[in-house]
This record gives sequence, C-alpha cells and structure tokens, in this order.
Amino acid sequence: MKFFVDTAEIDQIKELNDLGMVDGVTTNPSLIAKSGRDILEVTKEICSIVSGPVSAEVVALEADDMLAEGRKLAKIADNIAVKVPLTWAGLKTCKTLTDDGIMVNVTLCFSANQALLAAKAGATFISPFIGRLDDINIDGLELIEDIRTIYDNYGFGTNILAASIRTANHMSDCAKIGADVCTAPPNVIKAMANHILTDKGLAAFMADAKKAGIKIV
Ligand code: G3P
Repeated sequence: MKFFVDTAEIDQIKELNDLGMVDGVTTNPSLIAKSGRDILEVTKEICSIVSGPVSAEVVALEADDMLAEGRKLAKIADNIAVKVPLTWAGLKTCKTLTDDGIMVNVTLCFSANQALLAAKAGATFISPFIGRLDDINIDGLELIEDIRTIYDNYGFGTNILAASIRTANHMSDCAKIGADVCTAPPNVIKAMANHILTDKGLAAFMADAKKAGIKIV
C-alpha cells in the first residue's frame, strides 16, 4: 500500500520523506488555507520535494472554470494530480483532463455509486472519506471494501486512495482490505509506530544493558 501524506506543511513532508514514508502528497483547500501560503507556490515546493503524485484541488464549482484551474495546476509539475470534487462538473473535468493525460484525483467520495462514476470518468484516484463517514456512524471501511469489490469485479484502473484517515488502525485496516493508497496526516503515520509493549521491552533491554555494562562504541 502506498502512503500519501495529507498536509501542506513542508517541514512535516520533508521529515517523513527522508524516512522513505512518502509515496505522494494530498492537499485540499482547507489544508492550503491552514498553511497560510499561496497554493501555486506551496504546491510547487511540495512537487520539488516529493517525486510521487501531488494532489492539488480546484476551488471552482463550474466545469469550465474547474478545467481552467486544473490545467493551470497541472502546469506546476509533471507529478501533479488535479483534485476535483465528486460532482457532475467534477466528473466532466475529470474526463477531459484524463483524456489529456493529466492525473485526476476525484475527492469527497462517500458512496460506491460515486466511486463507480469516478472510475467510468477515468479517474486516476478516487478519495473515499473514511473518517467523515465514521463521524456520522456509518462504517467508512465498509465503503473501501465495497469499492475494492466493484473495481476488482470489472478491472477498473482507478486507484482507491483512502482519505480522511484519523487513526493508525485505519491504515492497517485499509491495507487488509486492499486500498491502493492511504493518505494520512503526519501524526497518524507516526502513531503507527506506537506500542506500549515496544516501550516496555526497550526499557527492560536498556536497563539490562546498563547493568551489564554493555558497550558497543
Ligand atoms: O484528504 C482529505 C482529508 O484531508 C480530509 O480529512 O479529517 O478533514 O475528514 P478530514
């Protein structure tokens, strides 16, 4: 499973990228706003750090405007994936950009029907939002399972990019289901390493090493 980092914070992207934990980056208007930076500038800087797909989202709602924004975002770098919402305007934009050889990430997906439409429109990525479904007591992981089944039934090439990831368990659960990608905030990726028994075991090793005076260098 590929790990994308869901942030526009350059330092956090660099830190995880240096650990080999970054196969791509996703941003959205809220994350760009949080960065306080110009979308074109910060996206260009992210593309200079990460070689994998970097999703940058349009802010227009009508197809013609979305297409113009998408083409401008695509010019930033070859690894740009233009992010469009799962609306008919977004699907139309997806089809046009995909036909032009531009990667498209269709976002704000909350149902299998929506994911089917994105695949038919040729989306490179579909972004089902797990956490926001969980927030309203709908099992977000079930949606990932449903999309995986449908895409495999018909050999759709669209990559399932599980998004709105809130916990480390979301990451492993998505991997068990077979999501192609998970995009998560840096703190969630880091939390994957946490385990109390690791901490306890390491403390015991260090105590015994100190007691025995083990020296390596
Ligand atoms: O990429 C989508 C993601 O940023 C949404 O996450 O936690 O706001 O639902 P969240």
